[in-house]
Amino acid sequence: MDIFSAMKQRKSARAYLDKPVSRADIEEIFKYAGLAPSAINLQPWEFVVTYGEEKDRLVRRLQKVHAERDVSCGPGTSAPLPERFSKRGSKALKAMEPQVSKLNLPFNEFVEKGSCSFYGAPVAIIVTIDRVFPQIRYLDVGLSVSYLLLAAHAKGLGTCPIGLITAYADDIADVLSIPEEKEIVLAISLGYADEASPANDFKTDREPLSEIFTWYE
Ligand SMILES: Cc1cc2nc3c(=O)[nH]c(=O)nc-3n(C[C@H](O)[C@H](O)[C@H](O)COP(=O)(O)O)c2cc1C
Repeated sequence: MDIFSAMKQRKSARAYLDKPVSRADIEEIFKYAGLAPSAINLQPWEFVVTYGEEKDRLVRRLQKVHAERDVSCGPGTSAPLPERFSKRGSKALKAMEPQVSKLNLPFNEFVEKGSCSFYGAPVAIIVTIDRVFPQIRYLDVGLSVSYLLLAAHAKGLGTCPIGLITAYADDIADVLSIPEEKEIVLAISLGYADEASPANDFKTDREPLSEIFTWYE
């Protein structure tokens, strides 16, 4: 698969087949994630991969804390978003809602409980960065995550970045013995996407270039 096809086709998967992913395939994807560029080649990204019983243990804990302490999916900003951004969020939710309604689940429940269970994916990845790094280095981690998502897609695997779970970072750190000096910045679900599920039957669109691009000559 060429890079442009992978970039065009990739989309977040929110329903997965009950089909194992081989450790060799997982490791190969991480080798590609590690090829991302980073400032002074510091490679500040770190990944904790959970599978099988360990993933189930993590999901049980997340479901428990979510039931006790509900958080909802949001942009995480301290001030309201300017309209051009909030419109994009609404548009994405509008694309998802009709499909999710076919699952007979309230939308928020689907996203929140789904995120806390990695949407049933067999692999749950926790992305961390050492707290010693300044915020700008989070950009490097994001680049690596992009490589990871594209490499997974090229191998026929689905992914979904999951930021919601960072609200439960302390619990995740506890379950997986992630030391205090590492900050949990994201999770990613990984597995074979269930293409037949309505949860995967939509694709978000993107703004035209004119919205994100300024040319000076
Ligand atoms: C940093 C980040 C955090 C995200 N957090 C969540 C999440 O908690 N739950 C979820 O269902 N999707 C989450 N997503 C997926 C986005 O909703 C998705 O990427 C966006 O709507 C664009 O759709 P696409 O990935 O299908 O292109 C997250 C994506 C990113 C990049």
